[in-house]
Amino acid sequence: MAFFDIDPDIRKAKTHPSEFYLDPQFFELSKIKIFERSWHFLCHESEVDSLKPVTLLPGVIDEPVLVARDGSELRCLTNVCTHRGKILVEEPCKANLIRCGYHGRRFSLDGKFLSMPEFEGVEDFPSKADDLRQLPLANWNGFLFTSIEPLTDLAAFIGDAAPLIEFDSSKPLKQTATREYHVKAHWALYCENYLEGFHIPYVHKSLNEVVDYGSYTTETFRYSSLQVGLSAEPSQEVAARYLFIFPNLMFNFYEWGVSVNVVRPVSPDETVIEFLTYVSDESKLDEGAGADLHGVEMEDEAVVESVQRGIRSRFYSQGRYSPTREQGTHHFHRLIAEFMG
Ligand code: FES
Ligand SMILES: [Fe+2]
Repeated sequence: MAFFDIDPDIRKAKTHPSEFYLDPQFFELSKIKIFERSWHFLCHESEVDSLKPVTLLPGVIDEPVLVARDGSELRCLTNVCTHRGKILVEEPCKANLIRCGYHGRRFSLDGKFLSMPEFEGVEDFPSKADDLRQLPLANWNGFLFTSIEPLTDLAAFIGDAAPLIEFDSSKPLKQTATREYHVKAHWALYCENYLEGFHIPYVHKSLNEVVDYGSYTTETFRYSSLQVGLSAEPSQEVAARYLFIFPNLMFNFYEWGVSVNVVRPVSPDETVIEFLTYVSDESKLDEGAGADLHGVEMEDEAVVESVQRGIRSRFYSQGRYSPTREQGTHHFHRLIAEFMG
């Protein structure tokens, strides 16, 4: 049996052996096999005045790119000068062209080479290689994504989860906060905890009071999954929708807006989680499932770090799944097997 092999039948399946999380070689391999072929969150379109630099997953993809607004057109370009390689734009700014601060090379907002001082007489210059390379850019409800070498387009990554989100993109969203959490655990352990509501009654006492555990659902799609929690009140309205886009993006839709969590691997036992808060209705910030996200995060980190210590045990290798409560985790493990295999 191959190392990366998770039975499609959840009742027969076993989780990944602990070596997957512990062996640095698998960690390095996942950068190429998983992260270079998937989509990465850039920002919300409202954050782009004209030029916004973003480093894609520092330490993993570690690629400096630039989101450029050119009239109504948004593009993702490499943020590296084609002359000697300086980073072109260091801070978000308003501009009608891109000018390198090293020797004055200029580009238009669509990445085309415009001019360069002191280059008279240089042969075959300028050529296509002097333009800035363009990366794919996907816009989903105003959220922007890019990829190095996508396996397929973003719409296919989100798949049939999209219509179930019922997201009203006409309401303006404002980024009100960003925060980084440092977790002493493998990135996949953090994700697989997120992917099941099974632990809610045990780990999240206060969340359990506002979300109805009995009606909590998980649906899986080709490269995404969606968990829906209904409010514990008699009205049973949707309290939260948790969309996971493989391998590391979490879009949490609450009454007040969206909390985007980007899971950034650092090493086999260290992960940074970026929490990006986009608010559409401030008056609802302290209500329901989206109220105490920091408290819930602390509870999640404690269990995930405990698992990281547990899987090092010589007496633990792999486990089994609950067919009714761990479909999201099983689906995630199957995707890891597919990408790594
Ligand atoms: S590196 Fe940009 S002009 Fe020289
Ligand atoms: Fe949790």
